Amino acid sequence: MAIYLGGETAAKKADLDDLTPGQIVEELDKYVVGQTAAKKAVAVALRNRIRRQKLPPEIAEDVLPKNILMIGTTGVGKTEIARRLARLANSPFIKIEASKFTEVGYVGRDVESMVRELADVAVDMARQSAFEDVQERAEENVEERLLDILLPPRDVVYTQDGSEATAADIEQSRKRTREKLREQLRRGDLDDRLIDIETQDRSNATIDFIGGQGMEDMGVNLRDMFGNMFPNKTVNRKLTVAEARKYMTRDEQESLVDMEQITRQALEKAQSSGIIFLDELDKIAGREGGGAHGPEVSREGVQRDLLPIVEGTNVNTKHGMISTDHILFIAAGAFHVAKPSDLIPELQGRFPIRVELESLTVDDLKRILVQPKNSLIKQYQALLGTEGIELSFTDDAIDRLAEMTEEINKTTENIGARRLHTLVEKLLEDISFMGSELTEKNQKIDAAYVDEHLNSLIVDKDLRQYIL
Ligand SMILES: Nc1ncnc2c1ncn2[C@@H]1O[C@H](COP(=O)(O)OP(=O)(O)OP(=O)(O)O)[C@@H](O)[C@H]1O
Ligand SMILES: [Mg+2]
Repeated sequence: MAIYLGGETAAKKADLDDLTPGQIVEELDKYVVGQTAAKKAVAVALRNRIRRQKLPPEIAEDVLPKNILMIGTTGVGKTEIARRLARLANSPFIKIEASKFTEVGYVGRDVESMVRELADVAVDMARQSAFEDVQERAEENVEERLLDILLPPRDVVYTQDGSEATAADIEQSRKRTREKLREQLRRGDLDDRLIDIETQDRSNATIDFIGGQGMEDMGVNLRDMFGNMFPNKTVNRKLTVAEARKYMTRDEQESLVDMEQITRQALEKAQSSGIIFLDELDKIAGREGGGAHGPEVSREGVQRDLLPIVEGTNVNTKHGMISTDHILFIAAGAFHVAKPSDLIPELQGRFPIRVELESLTVDDLKRILVQPKNSLIKQYQALLGTEGIELSFTDDAIDRLAEMTEEINKTTENIGARRLHTLVEKLLEDISFMGSELTEKNQKIDAAYVDEHLNSLIVDKDLRQYIL
């Protein structure tokens, strides 16, 4: 899965590379509890890139990024760190599961597709930000174009006394009407009026369909090929002014930016500051031998395919060639069954920085419940708040929840903070079910409430294996 979360504040956001390691850790602290070692490693790796850029080219070329391997049991925040980093990153960033890939030559996604995806993200980001840059000008132009449409030129104009008006008069009156219309347009008075416009045809649905999955694997982009064969088509549409404005602004933005230059810069950015987060790396660990067949072989194949990419190679994308030399790879995995040493040695060597994420303590669990900006408790409070329910938790309720979580994690499977989700969901089942129908709008959860609702499940071993 690739996640691209830029856009929202991309313009205001500082480049990730401008943040000091301390600031990056601070930023991550808002969402991820503990795991300082992992946060630090990530922050240093990112900072080293900016340091590298300050070196004379002949040294810089040789400074390759030190890829990171995050190891930790399930539910301790590996993916969460990546997700938050993605939000922070103004660098092209993708997160992808290693288990998605298949060996080159087999049906499925080959590993190079992640570099192509990174390129797509980079181009999207660059285009988005270029569009934002020209937004104002585009809107101005669109306003003029809308006025042209709303006020078509007339051949003959009569003045009030019936005689044909002079050219100057016509010009005068047209100008006045135009300005009046402009005011109405700005106020939104004309938003519902229907107009005919000519706009770019963006419904390349059929081409999209052919160019989907299969072709992606071959590194060929049908859409691009066809795109050039059928030059930009325009279509006539009848739309309200409000809708038309959106289409026209988009068209205008496209004509105002230089896509070729943007693509070039985007590729450069992907190469020099792209980050690929390779999740679930342990799922492709395991070596051939010992009578293992089938999937094992293919897994090793994927690892082998990964080698050149992580080491640095050129990948052909639809936007152009990308060198992976300076892309930062952050891999993560629980390594429950497989150990990092089960990866083929060459791949182990390419992830020199190992950080272990600690198991969560009761205290961590408590903080995870309440501290992060969008903590679980805050989420439920917000959800129920939409129905007028004010949900509050006493400190001892939080303590009980964390203790129970720890206990269940210990006695059944340790799924880290994920256990909190099932527990809290169960705890608030009744309240969530009743929602707006509750007569008591202030719902206070204390330790007694927690015990009452969860104890029976905890005590019964069979029950809790299924429910919690
Ligand atoms: N240290 C933490 N701080 C805040 N929230 C956490 C932390 N660890 C886990 N969580 C929460 O637990 C959930 C699962 O965490 P995450 O997805 O990061 O697990 P993971 O380490 O990637 O596990 P897996 O190996 O199963 O992929 C997330 O919803 C996250 O909010
Ligand atoms: Mg994960």
